[in-house]
Amino acid sequence: MIRKIVNDYNEQAEYIALAKEIMQIRKRGDVPLACIRTYGCQQNVADGEKIKGMLSEMGFEFTDKTEEADFILFNTCAVREHAEDRIFGNVGALKALKKRHPTVLIALCGCMMEQEHIANRIYKSFPFVGLVFGTHAIHKFPDMFYKSITGGRRVFERGNDDLCVHEGIPVKRDGSFKAWLSIMYGCDNFCSYCIVPYTRGRERSRNFEDILSEARSLVENGYKEITLLGQNVNSYGKGLEEKHTFAELIKAIDDIEGDFLIRFMTSHPKDCSKELIDVIANSKHISKHLHLPFQSGSDRLLKQMNRHYDRAKYLDIVNYAKEKIKDVSLTSDIIVGFPGETEEDFEQTLSLVEEVGFTSLFTFIYSRRKGTPAAEMPDPTTDEQKGERFSRLLKLQERIAAERCASMVNSTERVLVESLNEKNGMLSARTSGNIIVEAPGDESLIGTFANVKITKARNWILQGEFVNK
Ligand code: SAH
Ligand code: SF4
Ligand code: F3S
Repeated sequence: MIRKIVNDYNEQAEYIALAKEIMQIRKRGDVPLACIRTYGCQQNVADGEKIKGMLSEMGFEFTDKTEEADFILFNTCAVREHAEDRIFGNVGALKALKKRHPTVLIALCGCMMEQEHIANRIYKSFPFVGLVFGTHAIHKFPDMFYKSITGGRRVFERGNDDLCVHEGIPVKRDGSFKAWLSIMYGCDNFCSYCIVPYTRGRERSRNFEDILSEARSLVENGYKEITLLGQNVNSYGKGLEEKHTFAELIKAIDDIEGDFLIRFMTSHPKDCSKELIDVIANSKHISKHLHLPFQSGSDRLLKQMNRHYDRAKYLDIVNYAKEKIKDVSLTSDIIVGFPGETEEDFEQTLSLVEEVGFTSLFTFIYSRRKGTPAAEMPDPTTDEQKGERFSRLLKLQERIAAERCASMVNSTERVLVESLNEKNGMLSARTSGNIIVEAPGDESLIGTFANVKITKARNWILQGEFVNK
């Protein structure tokens, strides 16, 4: 099957105009207001920015308060049970609001909604939710919105136009100097524990030139950090008419003139090439950071997880990166308590963490996802045992992170200043290796690059002072 690039957003123009007119009458305040809450990963954040782009064209402005909104949308995540439970709780809490303000449209979208059993549960148990759509239907949001406010019935849309890449959708970015840039959608890897391939469909890459021109326009518009997004960016290019690899793509973006930083996520160890590491090592703009999830240190479990690499291959890439990229910062995702994980398997995870020396880790306790192969695997380990392993892993990483931070004291780092920490009045910035540094300084520095001399290490965070290099 061939991926299709579709430029059909102009078909939405009529619905945008109609919805805009209706909302001018339906609004409760001076302007139509939308409250969008996004859960989950950056892919969802990027989708949320597209939905905001379309809502802006429909005359909406935005609020954080559900109480004053004319349109409330929860953009949901299905990756773990806890994420789903939170959504059900938060949606349930909107029932009373809908009673008070019957004209408010309450909607749900995102990964959870691509699962049939979830959409059915919403349909039956939450009758005040008027619009539900999945990740495949975003490009026709104005159409669905218009039908929801005029059709007199609830709209449920779970698309399945797999292999379509919809270009031309407007984006309203949340940040003015940090931008998300999707380079591909979906996932074909079917790791046995993971729901994402079922909620986001088959992997499809955007055209090389479309990504490059979006990156150029971001740089021209003053963006200082561009994060390239995909579930497995290393397999970028599969199915393109003209062959391109991720290493070529990121190199082409690195060649754009200007002062900006490139980040990317997520890298899958099975497809992480040495060519990519060479490109990072020789680049002007790419961060010296590799987020490379290994999930488990046990070869036996990696097989059952369907990850297609083993410990030796993982270490081979990591050691190559350490050798080529000076002071490379490595981070990872780990799952504790995968079905059948033994004490020996878990100790393999601990020893890998020790051997690599990660800057930071995202650690998760395994969560059973309906419809995935791992959900059917026997899981004799108790929650208590899993919790105990999880604490041991955190404790180990705390020591390693503290040692790494301590080794950076007295060095000078180039950082992007991001925000003001209201609690202590310090500016919060991020190093190329993705470590947070706090330093006293003027708010006008936010959104700019600066040099910081590291004076002190706290557990995960560095402290420093701005210097002229
Ligand atoms: N595409 C990325 C990860 C996306 S999901 C990759 O392959 O690296 C982010 C992280 O959530 C995963 O790396 C994994 O550690 C975790 N995760 C995914 N499914 C999970 C599950 N069922 N239970 C617990 N953690 C899970
Ligand atoms: Fe999930 Fe694996 Fe795809 Fe990552 S690569 S999204 S963990 S199936
Ligand atoms: Fe969640 Fe979907 Fe991302 S399940 S982690 S929002 S791809």
